[in-house]
Amino acid sequence: MEKLVITGGTPLKGEVVISGAKNAAVAIIPATLLVNGICTIENLPNISDVKLYCDILKDLGAIVTWNSEHEVTIDTRKIDSHKTPLDVTRKFRASYYLIGALLGRCKHAIVGSPGGCNLGARPIDQHIKGFEALGATVDVSNGNIAASAKKLVGTSIYMDVVSVGATINIMLASVLAEGTTIIDNPAKEPHIVDVANFLNTMGADIRGAGTDIIKINGVKELKGNATYSIVPDQIEAGTFMLAAVASKGDVVIKNCITKHLESIIAKIVEIGGNVDANGDHLRVWCSKRTTKATIKTLPYPGFPTDLQPQMGVALSISDGTSIINESIWESRFQYTAELNKMGAKITAQGKSAVFEGVKSLNASPVYATDLRAGAALIIAGIVAKGKTEIYNLNHIDRGYENIEEKFRKLGAKIERVSE
Ligand code: EPU
Repeated sequence: MEKLVITGGTPLKGEVVISGAKNAAVAIIPATLLVNGICTIENLPNISDVKLYCDILKDLGAIVTWNSEHEVTIDTRKIDSHKTPLDVTRKFRASYYLIGALLGRCKHAIVGSPGGCNLGARPIDQHIKGFEALGATVDVSNGNIAASAKKLVGTSIYMDVVSVGATINIMLASVLAEGTTIIDNPAKEPHIVDVANFLNTMGADIRGAGTDIIKINGVKELKGNATYSIVPDQIEAGTFMLAAVASKGDVVIKNCITKHLESIIAKIVEIGGNVDANGDHLRVWCSKRTTKATIKTLPYPGFPTDLQPQMGVALSISDGTSIINESIWESRFQYTAELNKMGAKITAQGKSAVFEGVKSLNASPVYATDLRAGAALIIAGIVAKGKTEIYNLNHIDRGYENIEEKFRKLGAKIERVSE
């Protein structure tokens, strides 16, 4: 078993380069199934979810060639199966994109019911509603999801819930459908736009991604033979921004799109941090104790749920009492119990938590309960007095590339140790 050992108390200083976006990568890799050709994807984050996804594509008959740590070429011309390795697809959340992509390509898909981080109920009713509206039959049984269609025909779909996954999945299923599909009330996250841009580069006709209405004019085929570069990860950027603030450091964050970070910048400034944003990089620094805030997580462009735990660490040591309302996931406060072991005073109930700011945190053994909780605990370890040990690193490795190396370059005393 591996653990991270962090000796806290060093303010972070220096530069960090942000990797490609995890949540764009895990949608774009399955999206290559819609291409009848070869495509090259650049700026892929080197994380376990990406490797797992490439292996699933191989299993389906794709030829996957790694050109470098961050670039892969995928040849989908010989895809010969619509049946995914169920044990594997059941293990992680983003496997749901295989339903939309395989439906689009083969008109059939069988995928294990998606697992992933335990954040409470994670229904996929909006995905299914979309597939059915396009003409598919969907059967959920024995832990699997089977979808099939004689043909897919474009239609108007109103999303009852703003859902990243359902928006992307409906885009995937409708790119090769007959006629025009309209997605009303879609999610607008940067990775929605990135997936649309990727598909358009390969020959699709998708308009309006990132706005209130997405229009997809079905095309006969996607030819590929193109190269696409994934957007920088705004959640990784936000994680380092909040680490800089919580540690009273001074960090330049490079290779990010500052427009994607507006809600985080606003909250950091509100609690007393400083941000100087310059297009593709920003400097974040903080020289005094931060102050309380009220936060509500919302779909983009609101404050992202995926930065809520990292913000929670900053608020746990801020002056005054802060409140976070988590409006996306019902169980995203599990990290607060771990922070309380480190001396934080947080009362979480349901989808709200009250943070009574303490002056400092103390080291403790803690457990990452999910990916972003893991990132938050690393920040807590950097801030705390003494030696913090963090367990369950598999959660963190799913979504952050070289995280301890990046923090070490900023001066953190952090080591990965095998027990
Ligand atoms: N929802 C439904 N029905 C659906 C789909 C979603 O009720 O059919 C609800 C969910 O229960 C939730 C809300 O809608 O309350 C939003 O869920 P969404 O579908 O947007 O989430 P997701 O696609 O499963 C992605 C990210 C998550 C991120 C959320 C919200 C991926 C692979 N995952 O999940 O990322 O928290 O969007 O932004 O893109 C993470 O990276 O740590 C992570 C959990």
